[in-house]
Amino acid sequence: MIDITKLTELAVAYDAGDPRRVQHFLKVYAFCRLIGQREGLDAQTQNTLEAAAILHDIGIHEAERKHGSSAGQWQEAEGPAVAAPLLEQVGADPAARERILWLIAHHHTYAASEDTDFRILVEADFLVNAYEDALPPDACRTAEERLFRTRTGRMLLQKLYLSPPYQP
Ligand SMILES: [Fe+2]
Repeated sequence: MIDITKLTELAVAYDAGDPRRVQHFLKVYAFCRLIGQREGLDAQTQNTLEAAAILHDIGIHEAERKHGSSAGQWQEAEGPAVAAPLLEQVGADPAARERILWLIAHHHTYAASEDTDFRILVEADFLVNAYEDALPPDACRTAEERLFRTRTGRMLLQKLYLSPPYQP
């Protein structure tokens, strides 16, 4: 099993000076952890999902350096090469490593797979981006129909963004 705490420390060190990225992946990790546990993932799949959540956007700095853009396609292209040595440092086994790199390389390609770990990563990333990008309710409703698959992901989307706004 991958030591998620150690991997998190490595990812924070890699993103040093960029608190926005650190806060983003920590939130995506928390949602992946919650959704995965509630959806009953086996321990191994849960572990690789959590590692993928920590590393899913790790290609952004390279994408910005090489392509002048953090667009999804460049993140997907650059992420695996950055993630691989970090996974090596935490002793990821070959199967886990391969799965995590695949998840990183496809997390913006929403039709890439119906596998539950992949769907959860997409849902968790959306739940965080919806807040960070202040998406309107209509965009969340469209995502609920087209993007979301898990009961827990849909529940969270409803509670966070499709419920009557909190009034103090
Ligand atoms: Fe993300």
